[in-house]
Amino acid sequence: MKILGILGAHKQTGLTAQMLAAVLAGVPTPHTVETIYLEDYHFQPDQVGQRDPVLDELTAKLLESDVWVLAAPTYWGGLAGKMKDFLDCMRGRLVRFDHKGGTHPDRFKNKHYMSITSCYASTIENWVTGVTDNSFRTIDKVMSAAGLIKIKELVLPGTLLMDKIPEQKLSQAQQLGAKLITKPKRDDNTMKRYIELFCMIAVMAFLTMGIQFLFHLITPGTFWLTYITFVLIFYVLLASILHFFTVVKHRRR
Ligand SMILES: Cc1cc2nc3c(=O)[nH]c(=O)nc-3n(C[C@H](O)[C@H](O)[C@H](O)COP(=O)(O)O)c2cc1C
Repeated sequence: MKILGILGAHKQTGLTAQMLAAVLAGVPTPHTVETIYLEDYHFQPDQVGQRDPVLDELTAKLLESDVWVLAAPTYWGGLAGKMKDFLDCMRGRLVRFDHKGGTHPDRFKNKHYMSITSCYASTIENWVTGVTDNSFRTIDKVMSAAGLIKIKELVLPGTLLMDKIPEQKLSQAQQLGAKLITKPKRDDNTMKRYIELFCMIAVMAFLTMGIQFLFHLITPGTFWLTYITFVLIFYVLLASILHFFTVVKHRRR
């Protein structure tokens, strides 16, 4: 297997680069690794009838790799510009377009990826405010459109006064790198999620009606009949709404 690290950062040897290097260092032999530093590649979007040769070179590297590790710091609350520009310029190569302009996974379908970002914000600030959310979300959106399967994401918060990455973080990165070769299958837990939803509604309804019962708002004789019918009706309605918004609605666009 080949693991390709893609670094989109101002600094070639900065903290994000070191996190990427630690992940790749964890990849066991005989698997191979390669890192590309996007600042070294002066690509442009393809023009009609004229494909960009630098993008050709990068596309070949992407094609020959099984796992991509995309690493970019968080700038202005979003994905660093060079990585975003790379994903933007690669758009026409990452997906196939139908006659209505809709995008579909193409030749990179079922490859795997991992994402890494870093930020000045501390662990607690990032946990509360989600400073790095947009960076991960942008990568996930593009990768999902291209049909790639996510393995993991890794964040390095608190980089403001950091001159050396903590050992524990580096070893976490290496451990993740070691796992990159055991790729997960596409996540299709729809049935499991509907069962979980049913259990959540059953528990919450039981607690709610239990409280009502304690305060004599429900008569003892009708408790179980009311409870079972409430859970079933509420579950069917909620599952239908969720199905519409998450499955049916997407297909229309
Ligand atoms: C242009 C720019 C914008 C930044 N914006 C943010 C930000 O919005 N939030 C944040 O926590 N850190 C921000 N940072 C800090 C970077 O995330 C930080 O420089 C990075 O974690 C360091 O990684 P590096 O050593 O690989 O460059 C910004 C840095 C730069 C250069």
